[in-house]
Amino acid sequence: CATVWTPLIHHISMHFTLKRALKCEFISAFWKQVADEFFWKKPATGPMLQYNFDVTKGNIFVKCMEGAKTNMCYNVLDRHVREGNLGEKVAYYWEGNSPEHHTTITYGQMLSHVCRCANVLKRMGVRKGDRVSIYLPMIPELVYTMLACARIGAVHSVVFAGFSSDSLCERIMDAQSSVLVTADGVYRGDKLINLKQISDEALEKTTSRIYIKRIKASEPVYRPCLFTQTRNLALDWWDEAMSDSSEDCEPEWLDAEDPLFILYTSGSTGKPKGVVHTVAGYLLYTFLTFKCVFDYHHDDVYWCTADIGWITGHSYITYGPLANGATSVLFEGIPVHPHVGRFWEVIEKYKVTKFYTAPTAIRLLMKYGPEPLYDLSTLRILGTVGEPINPEAWQWYYETVGQRRCPVVDTFWQTETGGHVLTPLPAATPLKPGSATFPFFGVEPTILNEHGEEVEGEAEGYLVFRKPWPGIMRTVYENHERFENTYFKKFPGFYVTGDGARRDKDGYFWITGRIDDMLNVSGHLMSTAEVEAALTLHSAVSEAAVVSRPHQVKGECLYCFVTLKDSREFDKKMVAELKMLVREKIGPIATPDFIQNAPALPKTRSGKIMRRILRQIARNEKDLGDLSTLADPKVVEVLFSQRSEAA
Ligand code: WT7
Repeated sequence: CATVWTPLIHHISMHFTLKRALKCEFISAFWKQVADEFFWKKPATGPMLQYNFDVTKGNIFVKCMEGAKTNMCYNVLDRHVREGNLGEKVAYYWEGNSPEHHTTITYGQMLSHVCRCANVLKRMGVRKGDRVSIYLPMIPELVYTMLACARIGAVHSVVFAGFSSDSLCERIMDAQSSVLVTADGVYRGDKLINLKQISDEALEKTTSRIYIKRIKASEPVYRPCLFTQTRNLALDWWDEAMSDSSEDCEPEWLDAEDPLFILYTSGSTGKPKGVVHTVAGYLLYTFLTFKCVFDYHHDDVYWCTADIGWITGHSYITYGPLANGATSVLFEGIPVHPHVGRFWEVIEKYKVTKFYTAPTAIRLLMKYGPEPLYDLSTLRILGTVGEPINPEAWQWYYETVGQRRCPVVDTFWQTETGGHVLTPLPAATPLKPGSATFPFFGVEPTILNEHGEEVEGEAEGYLVFRKPWPGIMRTVYENHERFENTYFKKFPGFYVTGDGARRDKDGYFWITGRIDDMLNVSGHLMSTAEVEAALTLHSAVSEAAVVSRPHQVKGECLYCFVTLKDSREFDKKMVAELKMLVREKIGPIATPDFIQNAPALPKTRSGKIMRRILRQIARNEKDLGDLSTLADPKVVEVLFSQRSEAA
C-alpha cells in the first residue's frame, strides 16, 4: 500500500504549504510551479491569476498568465513525444460498441493523426478563432478533431451525439461555426443513430454557411469519409483527405487567454449557454486535478465512462489525461450491451486501475448485482461525478466493485468550473459516503444564507466560491452580460454555483442539489424552461410546468403538468405525442417519465407558477403546508385527484 500512496504525501504537504501560502497570498507561486511542467513559447508577463468577482466594482473577469504564449495540443502531444519519449506509449485503448471492435492508439500515432486533421481543417479555410462544431460519437476521430482545432487555434464546440437536430442547429448557430464534423451514424447498443441525417436536418435550418466533414461509423467498420460543403456535397473520403495531408503542422502559438473551446450547458431561461474555457488556465487545472484526484501513476490504465460531449469527457478523457501522458480507455458503448457485465469486462480486459463513472450508472448496474463476475483486482481508485451519490450506491461501489480496497472520490464540479472543485484526495482525505468532502487546492468555497451572508460552522445554504481558480469559465460565448447575471449578480463578490450545500461539524461539504430551476437526470443537467418550451410547441398545449421527481436509477426524472386548450382531449395518444416532441426538440435524455393533465396550474395571485406545490404533487406528498399565497387553492385538489392518471 505504501508504494501506491507515497506520492500522495507529496500532495498533502503541497496542500498544507498551500494553505499557508494562501494566507501569505503566495498562491501564485503554487500555480507557477504547476505551469513549469509545460512549454511556453513566451513566458507570462502578468501574475498567475488576476480577477474581479464583484459586479459592483466593474466587469467580471479572470485572467491566468497574461502575456504567455503556448499551444494546448503541443503540450498534450508533442511535448510527450519529443521531450518525454512517450511516442510509443498508448494514449487510448479504443473499445467499440461491440467488443469485437477495438484498437490501440499511441501518442506518436495521435500526433500524426491530429496534424493531418489540422491541415485538412486549414485547407477547408478554418483559421485561428473560427468555431468548429463537432457532432461525433466516442471514436478516436473525436479526440483528433478536438486537438486539431486546438493546434490551429480554432475553437471547438462539441455537441453530444445524443442531441436532436434542433439542439444541434441551435448550437451551430449560436457559435456561428463554419465547419461541422460528424459521422454517418453510430450504434448505441442495438440502436442505430443516424448522425448524418440528423446533421442534414440541423443544417437545413442554419443560416450560417457551413462545411461538413464526415466520418463513417465504426460499426460495421466503414472507410471514414469526409464531406465538404453540405449544400453541394463535394464528397471526399476522410482517409484520402488525411493521406494526402501532411504530418507537419506548426502549432499556432496562442495567448494564454485565447479561447480553447465552447461547450453548451443548459440555462435556466431555456436557451443553452456557451461556456467558454481558455487555453492556459484550463491546461493547468485539468492537468493537476487529474494528477491529484486520481493519484496518477505512469503505468495506470484510466477509464472514464462519460461521453466527450459533456465536460467530464473534455476535462477527464481528453485534456487532463493527455496533459499527464496517461493511458486511457476510450469507450464507445453503453453499460448493458451486449450484456450487463460490459463495464466489468472492459475493466478486466484492459486491467483498468482508475475508474470514473456516474451514480446513475452505478445504480443501474447494482440492479444486476450481487457482484460482477470479472477480475477487478487491478482497480485502485474509483470516482463518481454528476449528481449526489446515495449511500446505498456508494456502499455497493466501495464494497462490491472496489472490494473495500479502493477509495471512492466523489468529485463535485460543473461545466463552468472546468475541473473538480470539491473532491477528496484518495487515501489522504477520510471519506464520508455521499460527501464531496473538501475544496481542491486554491478553491475557496463558502455557504451563504438567503441574505447573502456567510454562515459559519455547521450550516446549509447557497454554495458559492470566493475566488477563481485557473480552470473556471471566462464568459458565456458572445454574451458576457449573461455570464455576469447568471453567476455573479445574486451575491456580489461570489461565483454562485446554483447548488445548495451543507457543511457538517467536521467541515465536510454535502451537495444538496440544485436550488434553481434546473433538473439533473442521470447526471445531465437540463432546465425546466427548455422542456416546458418544447411541450408548449404542441398545438394542443396552452401551458406546461415541469418539475423533478426522484427516480431509482436516474436520480431525478421529469414530471410534466400540461394544460390543454379547450376541446383538446388528454389521452394516451396525446401523451405519446408530447413525449416524442420533447425527444425531437431536445434529445432522448430529456424524455419525460410522467405527463399529467392539469386543467389549471397552482399560481400565486401575481400569476407565478408555484413549483414547490407541483413537486409535492409529483411526489405524492400530501402535507402541502401554507397554501395562502395561491390564487385558487382548489386547483391543488384537482391535481391530486388526477395524479393516478399520469402516464
Ligand atoms: C451540476 C453540474 C461536472 C460534470 C458533470 C455535470 C451536479 C456534479 C456532483 C457531485 C453532487 C453534483 C451539480 C452541478 N453535480 N457533480 N459530485 N455531487 N452533485 O456537469 O452538466 O455542468 O452539471 O451537476 O448540481 O451543479 P454539469
